[in-house]
Amino acid sequence: MPLTRKAYRAAILHSIADPAEEGIEASYEYFADGLLVIENGQISAVGHAGDLLPTLPADIDITHYQDALITPGLIDTHIHLPQTGMVGAYGEQLLDWLNTYTFPCESQFADKAHAEEVADIFIKELLRNGTTTALVFGSVHPQSVNAFFEAAEKLDLRMIAGKVMMDRNAPDYLTDTAESGYQQSKALIERWHGKGRLHYAVTPRFAPTSTPEQLALAGQLLGEYPDLYLQTHISENKQEIEWVKALFPERNGYLDVYDHYKLLGERSVFAHGVHLCDEECARLAETGSAVAFCPTSNLFLGSGLFNLPMAEKHKLNVGLGTDVGGGTSFSLLQTLNEAYKVMQLQGARLSPFKSLYLATLGGARALRLEDKIGTLQPGTEADFLVLDYNATPLLSYRLKQAKDIAETLFVLMTLGDDRTVMQTYAAGQLVHQR
Ligand code: GUN
Ligand code: ZN
Repeated sequence: MPLTRKAYRAAILHSIADPAEEGIEASYEYFADGLLVIENGQISAVGHAGDLLPTLPADIDITHYQDALITPGLIDTHIHLPQTGMVGAYGEQLLDWLNTYTFPCESQFADKAHAEEVADIFIKELLRNGTTTALVFGSVHPQSVNAFFEAAEKLDLRMIAGKVMMDRNAPDYLTDTAESGYQQSKALIERWHGKGRLHYAVTPRFAPTSTPEQLALAGQLLGEYPDLYLQTHISENKQEIEWVKALFPERNGYLDVYDHYKLLGERSVFAHGVHLCDEECARLAETGSAVAFCPTSNLFLGSGLFNLPMAEKHKLNVGLGTDVGGGTSFSLLQTLNEAYKVMQLQGARLSPFKSLYLATLGGARALRLEDKIGTLQPGTEADFLVLDYNATPLLSYRLKQAKDIAETLFVLMTLGDDRTVMQTYAAGQLVHQR
């Protein structure tokens, strides 16, 4: 195959370390007039245009953007495909919200055509918002995951998903059994895990909706295949936590339920964790597990304020999650806007570079994919965005007042949304053009 080499010239910014560990200045690289060189779907060089241009053949295809910023593709570490049609459901907190809105909406995925239609809308929405990798909950129906992976495979996206396992405390029309959940998950793993850029995540919904037998089989699956993911929810809502204590009185708290069934580990991502205690953060960190911080959802469902400084103290891996449809936006920029406010309400700050880290390299680390995605380092996959400084009249005017890249970045995260994403590239191919 002939070598395909292309270059993109614009301002370029990416995270290269966690500001909490290395300090803000060492956490990013910024090239005011930068060049990103792509060869066969991978990044081969990034740097100052003035340094790189002389090293390239004179006839190389260069796309030059004015008033634009190239960043890595964004990473959503927690989102629900079958909740696309119920974003913004009024008035309830978690447990009533699940029963009133979520379960009826997810039941529609029994219909394969519906699953395919929503998978298509969902993937378009991810790409419109600049999300190039997501860790995705399907519904209990295997066809929700088949529809998602089929659509993702066509675009060569790096995506992770799994079918919900749920064998109690949910309507009969939406439950599997311990055995069928195990067998259906296994069939999906055999079909999809490791195919192209796709990975499978074992997906018990949360402790209350799985019997001990089902949780044990989820743990067994993790042992049967290499590099499988595990995704579930934890300590999101106070009533939920009391319910888990009542259902598992023999266990020493919510996390201990998952720990007992061997669900913690380097590819395990626990959504929310709003009410985790110090010991639980320490245990999550010790096992290499990660937490998905879902600020729009935690505010919308009245769940509480995630304690990011506590997670940082324990060196716990944290990614950012939209949690659509508990969350109210597919945009990780808007999710960061809310994350900043969640920190403000706790008397803390969220620097724009920490925000960039959470949405890119931090998410990649939470998913153990930092050698492939999350930065623009040479040798990684060419998943990147072109953000438009003139996306709206207000953004355009406001950014003209910005004195440096820190302010520009912060304003992009405060005013930015899907309109800001001019182009999205995955594996070097254009997959969204605004
Ligand atoms: N806990 C169990 N299921 C869900 C869900 O679908 N969304 C949220 N936010 N929390 C959950
Ligand atoms: Zn969720």
